[in-house]
Amino acid sequence: MLFELQGVSKYFAAPGGQRVAALRDISLGVGAGESVGLVGESGSGKTTLIRCALGLVPPDGGRIRYDDLDVAAATRQQLQRFRREVQLVFQDPFASLNPRMTVEELVGEGLLVHGLEPHAERRRERVAQTLRMVGLTPDAMGRHTHSFSGGQRQRIAIARALAMRPRLLVCDEPVSALDVSVQAQVINLLQEMQRELGLTILFVAHDLAVVRHLCTRIYVMHHGEMVESGDRESIFEHPRHAYTQALLAAVPVPDPQVARARRKLHRLNSLAQQGAGMEAQT
Ligand SMILES: Nc1ncnc2c1ncn2[C@@H]1O[C@H](COP(=O)(O)OP(=O)(O)O)[C@@H](O)[C@H]1O
Ligand SMILES: [Mg+2]
Repeated sequence: MLFELQGVSKYFAAPGGQRVAALRDISLGVGAGESVGLVGESGSGKTTLIRCALGLVPPDGGRIRYDDLDVAAATRQQLQRFRREVQLVFQDPFASLNPRMTVEELVGEGLLVHGLEPHAERRRERVAQTLRMVGLTPDAMGRHTHSFSGGQRQRIAIARALAMRPRLLVCDEPVSALDVSVQAQVINLLQEMQRELGLTILFVAHDLAVVRHLCTRIYVMHHGEMVESGDRESIFEHPRHAYTQALLAAVPVPDPQVARARRKLHRLNSLAQQGAGMEAQT
């Protein structure tokens, strides 16, 4: 595994002095080149997990390993490498991109800060190349983000991450703030990038439909616990946990795989009800 969490827990202080578990004994792994989904409804602890995983907040227990690094024990130099190789795309492209910076500055910032491309002309070239990669034309470079749509802003945020040539891209609900019609375009872009660049992706979503095409392995979180994980087929065809079944029931039907799984759930449910009915009669 390129990235691995073992038994991570995190508590927050609640009003009244109580401690509330936001994460309980969470384990998760992402193999090199893999695209892994983390799904759970709003408030289930996904962002808290990502923040712990990236060393942005300290977990209260557990281990976080990236490649050969123990993230909690890493030296400054090792952390710098971690912050370069692991890039994050946030949910809200309106809040995450500084409106005072031009697209060229936004996409080139990491290259400058990490000293990867100190030469201005070469950095400019790399920014232009990355923008083309995500489907934007280099004439976007001089503009500010307010003149772009939500979908285009998320492309800019993805370019900002990809310019660093990361090994792992962590996307925390990157399409949740976008119109449904634009969501698929952004997911297709990520899928393309994954194939072309050999990128490893950890993709967070509150809805199973979003990870269906992109992710080959899926983890399901509920109330700060990991309730189920498995490859895409087993999650969609044979969901074991009631919560996964409920999430699946919320997926819009057109997908034949989902429709099939849902018919099966209906059948099982009605069989169970018949069974209960017969028991009641005898
Ligand atoms: N800094 C914080 N202080 C207290 N509680 C928090 C904090 N951050 C998150 N929480 C709580 O932790 C739970 C999980 O939140 P979050 O990780 O944002 O979930 P998700 O990303 O799945 O929507 C929520 O109940 C939230 O209110
Ligand atoms: Mg979140």
